[in-house]
Amino acid sequence: MERGTRQDIPESAHFRREDGELTCDGMPLRALAEAHGTPLHVLSESAVRAAYASVTEALREGAPERPHLVCYAMKANGSPGLLRRLAALGAGCDVVSGGELYWALRAGFPADRIVMSGVGKTDAELEAAVRAGVSIHVESEGEIEALVPIAERLGRPARIGLRINPNVDAATHPYIATGLFDTKFGLSMELGRRLGRELAKGPLVLESISSHIGSQIGEVDALKDAAEITAALAVECRAQGAPIARIDVGGGWPVAYGDEDAAFPTYREIGVAIGRGLRAAKAPADLALVVEPGRALVGQAGVLLGRVLFEKRQQSPQGQLRRFVIVDAAMTELIRPSLYGAYHAIEVVTADRGAPSPCDVVGPVCESGDFFARDRLLPPLVRGDLIALRTTGAYGAAMTSEYNARPRAAEVMVAFGGVEILRPRGRVEDLHDEG
Ligand code: LLP
Repeated sequence: MERGTRQDIPESAHFRREDGELTCDGMPLRALAEAHGTPLHVLSESAVRAAYASVTEALREGAPERPHLVCYAMKANGSPGLLRRLAALGAGCDVVSGGELYWALRAGFPADRIVMSGVGKTDAELEAAVRAGVSIHVESEGEIEALVPIAERLGRPARIGLRINPNVDAATHPYIATGLFDTKFGLSMELGRRLGRELAKGPLVLESISSHIGSQIGEVDALKDAAEITAALAVECRAQGAPIARIDVGGGWPVAYGDEDAAFPTYREIGVAIGRGLRAAKAPADLALVVEPGRALVGQAGVLLGRVLFEKRQQSPQGQLRRFVIVDAAMTELIRPSLYGAYHAIEVVTADRGAPSPCDVVGPVCESGDFFARDRLLPPLVRGDLIALRTTGAYGAAMTSEYNARPRAAEVMVAFGGVEILRPRGRVEDLHDEG
């Protein structure tokens, strides 16, 4: 949450100052902005690799007794160049729409490493999932009723999981908490149990039980409890004859944005808590552990670059002065501050030129909610200066809109000392297809 005049910068081995200039893995962000324009999303490939390694290592430590699969929640950032790399590292993928399924398959994720979540799947999406042979995480009784005739018509067994709602409080922002009974997600435990019994036979192959209690989870105990509840149902369904092979405890592994009051649990602590939950439920070691992190794999790997357009000072009738820094990036490239009051650290890319003072950093979009920060301490800025919004790799570019006829910003990845264009800048002419 944005509060006061704090300006806390998260530490990173990938976004560091060299000779006063902010760089991505040694490459000056200034040079990237000059070559590709602004607003510009920049991802560090080595930061993604490091994050993937730390999640897999945490699972090895927390649940050494069983196989694991990290299914990247591609909603966090679905750029094909990123997906291809994660697929090559051995990751799986969590998709939530027919569109994401298409891109996951195209990026090379094998079907048996793809899970499909989502409370509202259409017939076309269910059919595509059955045809592809991915695991469908069912979230309502109606979804089963819709799925059975599709599987029968296609003459294929549909692999499914039951996504339960364990009614565990993830203690996070209400918009990203999903594990309490009053959210739209998952099946109640009671319904999950009944469906588990009924599904032991029929055209649907019940092979997993899943849950996802929310995003940016700060409490390891919540993850442990959810893992235990999820695993207990998996054990129960298996005892009733369902061919359960996996327990999926969802994503939600947090990243530090820099404004936290208390440190988050480490990934190792999270892995250990999940492992404890599975063992508490006496889950046999051949039940694989699946996790679905999105933010944890890409959040800290990205920045959003914007150029200062104007500084503007406005005086209230009471004589109070407000300083606005207007930049060319907006809520269309990063909506998290507008939507959740989320905090993103803001750094001046080249050397600071003076004492900082509080300002509101805002975009050009015609909405008062189009702001990145309020009362943030920044040095004096002039037209053309570059700023970097930090920790934008997850739910940044992915939540883009073209509001105000703003074409999509370009997205690049710094990889092995070179730069790859993940997505070229959109063109105004392409915003509408007039046939
Ligand atoms: N699995 C399921 C079923 C999910 O719904 C989500 C996220 C994830 C995994 C990945 O969660 P993560 O590991 O990234 O926390 N736009 C919001 C976050 C929305 C998350 C929605 N579901 C934000 O910018 O904070």
